[in-house]
Amino acid sequence: MSNQTHATSTDAPRGTPPTIIVIFGASGDLTARKLAPAIFNLSKDDLLPESCYLIGYGRSSMSDEAFRDYLRESLASHSRRPIEEATWDALAPNISFHAGGYDELDSYKELDTKITAIEESLGSYAQCLFYVSTPPGVFMPILENLGTSGLAKRHKGQATASKVIIEKPFGRDLQSAHELNGVINRRFEESQVFRIDHYLGKETVQSLLVQRFANSIFEPVWNRNYVSSVQITVSENLGVGSRGGYYDRSGALRDMIQNHVMQLLALTAMEPPSSLDPEAIRDEKVKALQALKPVAFTGDDPEVVRGVYTEGLVDGQRADGYLEEEAIPQSSSTETYAALRLSLDNWRWKGVPFYIRSGKRLAMKASEIVVQFSRPPAILFGEGQRFKVEPNLLVIRIQPNEGITLYLNSKVPGLETKLQPIKLAFGYETTFGSNTPEAYERLILDALNGDGTLFIRGDEAETSWSLLSPVLEFWEAQGKNGLESYSAGTWGPLAADKLLLKGGHEWLTGKEYQ
Ligand code: BG6
Repeated sequence: MSNQTHATSTDAPRGTPPTIIVIFGASGDLTARKLAPAIFNLSKDDLLPESCYLIGYGRSSMSDEAFRDYLRESLASHSRRPIEEATWDALAPNISFHAGGYDELDSYKELDTKITAIEESLGSYAQCLFYVSTPPGVFMPILENLGTSGLAKRHKGQATASKVIIEKPFGRDLQSAHELNGVINRRFEESQVFRIDHYLGKETVQSLLVQRFANSIFEPVWNRNYVSSVQITVSENLGVGSRGGYYDRSGALRDMIQNHVMQLLALTAMEPPSSLDPEAIRDEKVKALQALKPVAFTGDDPEVVRGVYTEGLVDGQRADGYLEEEAIPQSSSTETYAALRLSLDNWRWKGVPFYIRSGKRLAMKASEIVVQFSRPPAILFGEGQRFKVEPNLLVIRIQPNEGITLYLNSKVPGLETKLQPIKLAFGYETTFGSNTPEAYERLILDALNGDGTLFIRGDEAETSWSLLSPVLEFWEAQGKNGLESYSAGTWGPLAADKLLLKGGHEWLTGKEYQ
């Protein structure tokens, strides 16, 4: 997973066979913002195969030249480092565009002909990496056509066998995720498939397993005997911006919780895997997700809260409410915020609440896991005016200010005994410097090398959906009924605070203690 333990990707990148990366949805936003910068940064670090080709596949017709110009501009705006002429010149001649409909089989056959021509010019076979980065409505026809055209089966069983990366969202509920998995299983072997969750490519998420399993001090206390709650917050201060059309059909639960937040939860809660083998790790993540109890969404003590932002102040600037955003219908009942109280029915976590939340237009951008430990018995330093014994906290900051902080109680120097929480803090940037690779660099490199550790397995996606689909169905039936509101720039609806109060907890991310 980290550079030390996850050796496969960076050790022998140049050993990977000649490669042709085909991006479906090539003229889309993700290609410009993330995929092209990732590919060029890998090239800059000499991490791409020596013979590497990039074919953009899209519906609009575009010349090879125009596609290159488009990528060049996107690099200028979005690459984390400048891409020098030499790096550009090495890859640019191998970039082309293939115009075609996603449901036109002939177009895939023409693509196949193009790929064969590249192989002939190289005098060797090449592996194809198909990157499906289109709106989800066309995932199925693309996967089916990759199958029917024979592209999926190119060099089956060999080192140059085709691979496919599938962007999120992976389905919009359990049923659709199941159907998508059905097509994938008919057309590909699971080892060829890489379902992306870009959070797994974040350096700090990868190092979660190292923190947990390469440090013996955590394991003995990482359970119901010492942990009183776990909180996971993935908050954003931005609104939906120009993505309203997509977002309104999605909402916070689908857009963030089902994938990113559930992945953070699985990594936090899972048992130690027997090895760093991708399947061993993914097996343990699935088991953790399977242990989650069904969510109560009705009754006296519902375990879910949803909300939508109204006008407010974000960083001192007035921000529109969700219904005023571009492309959002007035009738919308889509949630821009969701919070859940979850529990795992297993030996390690029985009785420990896992509070998770995510939302747009919140007070700040922060992705954080807070492990709150039980208070010590109130014998020596009992609660009261003199002693305030705060629970120990382990705060794992995924972004920004990536790092880990452990909160302990200390004596304030002086003649009387007075307690105060202090922090032991580690910051990635201070220790390791900046310029960490972007998530997409790690993920594309791993897919090229056939390493699925940081990708979602089919059963993992379905297990997460099986927990959340009933909640979504209930919300859909309720419409705006029960949809709370919160002012932009705040920490979400009050009801979400009440969700924790019952267990004697409060949301900690964004609180003074930081
Ligand atoms: C995406 C969501 O998956 O993650 C977006 O679709 C969200 O709505 C984004 O803004 C957040 O990613 P990050 O890496 O900026 O935390």
